[in-house]
Amino acid sequence: MRTQMASSSYMMITVLISSFIVAFGGNFHQDFDITWGDGRAKILENGQLLTLSLDKTSGSGFQSRNEYLFGKIDMQLKLVPGNSAGTVTAYYLSSQGPNHDEIDFEFLGNLSGDPYILHTNVFSQGKGSREQQFYLWFDPTADFHTYSILWNPQRIIFSVDGTPIREFKNAESVGVAYPKNQPMRIYSSLWNADDWATRGGLVKTDWSQAPFTASCRNFNAEACIRSSGSSSCSSSTRWLNEELDATSQERLKWVQKNYMIYNYCSDSKRFPQGFPPECSINRN
Ligand SMILES: *[C@@H]1O[C@H](CO)[C@@H](O)[C@H](O)[C@H]1NC(C)=O
Repeated sequence: MRTQMASSSYMMITVLISSFIVAFGGNFHQDFDITWGDGRAKILENGQLLTLSLDKTSGSGFQSRNEYLFGKIDMQLKLVPGNSAGTVTAYYLSSQGPNHDEIDFEFLGNLSGDPYILHTNVFSQGKGSREQQFYLWFDPTADFHTYSILWNPQRIIFSVDGTPIREFKNAESVGVAYPKNQPMRIYSSLWNADDWATRGGLVKTDWSQAPFTASCRNFNAEACIRSSGSSSCSSSTRWLNEELDATSQERLKWVQKNYMIYNYCSDSKRFPQGFPPECSINRN
């Protein structure tokens, strides 16, 4: 009798804890649809893991069921190992239509032992061309790492394992459109881009290594879900006003000084007539 009670309350606790973890980690079955790749993307481990694959015929990808207008979104990714030259793994937010908004993380593969490039971009009202690129301070193929987007009305912050790597501030005050009216979905995909991705397209995909595989897990969105015009958020949602504190600003500077390999805001060849107006606002 006693042991039965003990074991049933033990079970209750286990059930409670595991449902908490599921809710926190998100579930790929619940939150996403595989949209292309003809079986190359797979949801495994009861919705806790999603794998993307690419071979000579096709890549693969998925998208969120929900649309979000602002959010704090984390995804853990483990990128294609070994010779991943020519492959691109993307993880981004995007709205629809010709004047779309978009917030991009793209991981450009490389030959074994050579560094991936983490490429970032922000589109507002259909206008992008705001690239910043980085090397990472770890091997992104050896393990999962967390890639996060904080998107609120004042700023967009890209982070890697909690370290901010880029901040794109609202620059409406200098006439630059900011993503704030169009709800976006979360997308991820793995595809072949050997016409440009690795050393500008010089290194091609080695198909003898296919299929290439990348994995995603622990999706977590504290985000304002939009459905039929109303939002799940209220103005008291804390991250809607979040900004970088002094420590985070120092870390952002550390990344930009040591790991940033391209910044459109310092590419004077590309902008001989002067930098885009948001560059003056985004000087960190
Ligand atoms: C690949 O490695 C080369 C040589 O280290 C480097 O110049 C390049 O930035 C790396 N990344 C990509 C995606 O080309």
